[in-house]
Amino acid sequence: MSAGRAQDTREPMLKAENLSKRFGGILALSQVSLEVFPGEIIGIIGPNGSGKTTFVNALTGFIKSDTGKVTFKGQDITNLEPHKIADLGLTRTFQVMRPYYTLPAFKNLIVPLFSPRARRTGGWRGGGKMGSRDTVAVDILEEIGFERDSYVPYKVASSLPTGYLKRLELARCLALRPDLIICDEVFSGLSMSEMASMVPLIEKLQMEGMTLLMVEHRLRELFRLANRVMVLNFGCKIAEGSAEEVMEQSEVKEAYFGSEEVYEYV
Ligand SMILES: Nc1ncnc2c1ncn2[C@@H]1O[C@H](COP(=O)(O)OP(=O)(O)O)[C@@H](O)[C@H]1O
Ligand SMILES: [Mg+2]
Repeated sequence: MSAGRAQDTREPMLKAENLSKRFGGILALSQVSLEVFPGEIIGIIGPNGSGKTTFVNALTGFIKSDTGKVTFKGQDITNLEPHKIADLGLTRTFQVMRPYYTLPAFKNLIVPLFSPRARRTGGWRGGGKMGSRDTVAVDILEEIGFERDSYVPYKVASSLPTGYLKRLELARCLALRPDLIICDEVFSGLSMSEMASMVPLIEKLQMEGMTLLMVEHRLRELFRLANRVMVLNFGCKIAEGSAEEVMEQSEVKEAYFGSEEVYEYV
């Protein structure tokens, strides 16, 4: 192997090989492969309906792929059940948020904090620390921007604005002390100021060692964060590389032609 390919000698944390998924007449995912290395933020972009969420669902066991293989930390996790995949340290947020709306925000973390993985790890950063799960839950929420002093962690989830609900989704992932988090459109529905505060939060997670896969519609924010980007179109990978590299490719420009994203980015 040539010296210039030193990066390729590292073991990927997550490896997808030739994943395909058909829904009736629609080939939602066609032979998509991707490697994610420890500490990276990888972006997945593509027009609506290009297969981004299907890819995430196939990686995390929420749908069974028709063909292909997924390896996480060296273990074959292809089509394992989602809770088993989460237990290994691969978690995801949902594009359509799924909080327990009637519970206070911090109580939303109790379920993941009672999971076998959290029991083993002591909860995100709570490892070795004294304190109840409630305390750990509030600590996690505070870490990701719920102001403890103004009692935001104690507010009923249904009363929280979208910005907090998106953070709550992330917090539920963090409670498992995962190795890799997949975010499905974590910026969607956020106001400009909510987006502006989400970017440093993701940067902080990366600095603390988290590996992230971000499916994103908001290119401007994503490109500030992502080390590499994969572009899907009609279920196929059409480009992979740095944000600048992929956006230069004519097939990518064509896929996005006329859409606001390109104008936003340029
Ligand atoms: N459960 C499903 N049943 C049937 N078709 C689906 C299902 N999920 C996704 N699709 C179709 O697969 C394609 C890719 O969808 P999706 O992965 O949600 O795209 P994206 O997240 O990029 O917007 C779309 O044509 C969508 O309508
Ligand atoms: Mg989607």
